[in-house]
Amino acid sequence: MTAQLIDGKAVAASVYASIRADVELLKTKYNIVPGLATILIGDRPDSKAYVGSKQKMTQELGMYSVGAHMPEDVTQDEALKIVRGYAEDPKVHGILVQLPLPPQLDQETVLGAIPIEKDVDGFHPINIGRLAMKNREPMFVPCTPKGCIELILAAGTKIEGARAVVLGRSNIVGLPAAFLLVHRNATVTICHSRTQNMPDIVRQADIVVAAIGKAEFVKGDWIKPGATVIDVGINAIPDATKKSGQRLVGDVDFNAAKEVAGAITPVPGGVGPMTIAMLMRNTCDSAKRLVGLI
Ligand code: GUN
Repeated sequence: MTAQLIDGKAVAASVYASIRADVELLKTKYNIVPGLATILIGDRPDSKAYVGSKQKMTQELGMYSVGAHMPEDVTQDEALKIVRGYAEDPKVHGILVQLPLPPQLDQETVLGAIPIEKDVDGFHPINIGRLAMKNREPMFVPCTPKGCIELILAAGTKIEGARAVVLGRSNIVGLPAAFLLVHRNATVTICHSRTQNMPDIVRQADIVVAAIGKAEFVKGDWIKPGATVIDVGINAIPDATKKSGQRLVGDVDFNAAKEVAGAITPVPGGVGPMTIAMLMRNTCDSAKRLVGLI
């Protein structure tokens, strides 16, 4: 059997179509342009590339994009000043501080300076806390896990009653993905670096969300036949046949897993495009909330 390929670019394209319509409505009827502020600290090539893509997409959708790029050795006070400036700027509806931060900065303090109504990454403890609790509504849900749920639904997979296994327990992906699946009535297991018998646990999963950051860690024979596999990993591995000398692979051994799974996301082209699409959706929703549209 060969799995259905879940096309993240196609799902993201339909998200963008609905955002374009919202942006048009906000501009014409409410005279408001949704705005995203990005804060990049240091010169990590991956962070620069991610922030560049986020800014480009903001502009392509007709939204307002503003950004600060600060040196690696910026002080906590300087970083907080920038965040607070955007917090007070009425043109800015979403603030994104690209992670990871350099070690002299306290992540909790910096992210905590983002007002929850502009926390489009959904990383503020109040937003995460509300996400974790029953019958509470976070202002925003973190983008990558939100995108994972959209992809599971796009594959036609029923979440209610399914056994879901999340690999990884990060604040950014693993934990929020597990909360979202629980709220949709899946039976959820979180696996991590100390989990025993991981292959046996994954074999029970109707839905696998792999977010551990280890290249091709999940093997084909861990996958339950027909399962839906969402691969969050983006790992560079050496490949002498490529000009760059490397290629990107996920956390799942894609070629083996696709022979067993019912549906699977590719890397690249699966979760990646959805993360940015959900950030754009959250930024647009922030502006919509301001004018009472949601
Ligand atoms: N670093 C890795 N993923 C993310 C993300 O989704 N948002 C931010 N701000 N930083 C990241």
